[in-house]
Amino acid sequence: MTKKLALVTGGVGGIGSSICRELAEKGYRAIAGYHPAEEAAAKARLSEWQAAGLDIDIVSGDVASFESCVDMAAAIREKHGTVQALVNCAGITRDKTLKKMTPDDWTAVLNVDLNSLFNVTKQFIDGMTDAGFGRVVNISSVNGKKGQFGQTNYSAAKAGVHGFTMALAQEVARKGVTVNSVSPGYVETAMTKAIPADISQQIVAQIPLGRMAQPEEISYVVGVLCDDRAGYITGTNISVNGGMFISF
Ligand code: CAA
Repeated sequence: MTKKLALVTGGVGGIGSSICRELAEKGYRAIAGYHPAEEAAAKARLSEWQAAGLDIDIVSGDVASFESCVDMAAAIREKHGTVQALVNCAGITRDKTLKKMTPDDWTAVLNVDLNSLFNVTKQFIDGMTDAGFGRVVNISSVNGKKGQFGQTNYSAAKAGVHGFTMALAQEVARKGVTVNSVSPGYVETAMTKAIPADISQQIVAQIPLGRMAQPEEISYVVGVLCDDRAGYITGTNISVNGGMFISF
């Protein structure tokens, strides 16, 4: 039987690379999408994965650009075929109070963290509905649910991810395609390492579990949502935030 194919945008980053590994271990062939500027990091990850015998490839593309996503999708189709699972994981931060935030800080984050969902998902959703099977998982954030001081751009984009998820879930449910979001809390990655140490300590002090998450604690949940047996879970959000924001 041919393997199912999964594309993970932001696939060479902290959470994304862990998701690629999880999906490969679950029997998918995973493709890690990376920004053209991350070529060296992407190649280093690829060597690691190949050495570990994991069925993971890499593809370059700028998720903030629709045209670049058209090219990325064509490259994947030509080399590997049709994508059955899409994990929209690419994301950036440009933390500043609104007072100090520039239009570029706003637009860059909205483009990468929210407009990318349109740019990338448009390339693959018809293939999924035509085949009668698909899994879309959108990586949001605890801060898209509770808001965060210094993140009007990021919180707005990540809250928008939920709206996109709920609407698309309704549009494709009858075709066997599920669409869900996962909202990680603070995860030990390069993104959280960039938070000043004193602020990071204050944040961790607010987490009931008393620590940040490991990437594997997020990718486990994404793996569950991409499983064949998860076909009745759609239009929902799963929080993985160590109790930092408890809501139903
Ligand atoms: N609540 C209320 N007031 C606060 C505050 C808070 N959390 N943090 C700072 N303030 C106050 C400050 O004390 C200061 O008050 P005064 O003017 O009276 O001195 C005022 O607000 C302005 O503070 P700053 O001058 O420090 O503001 P700044 O614009 O220079 O920088 C910041 C603020 C860069 C956003 C910094 O607070 C910061 O890095 N915060 C962390 C943001 C964060 O959590 N980012 C998450 C990144 S990881 C991620 O996003 C992944 C994910 O999904 C979870």
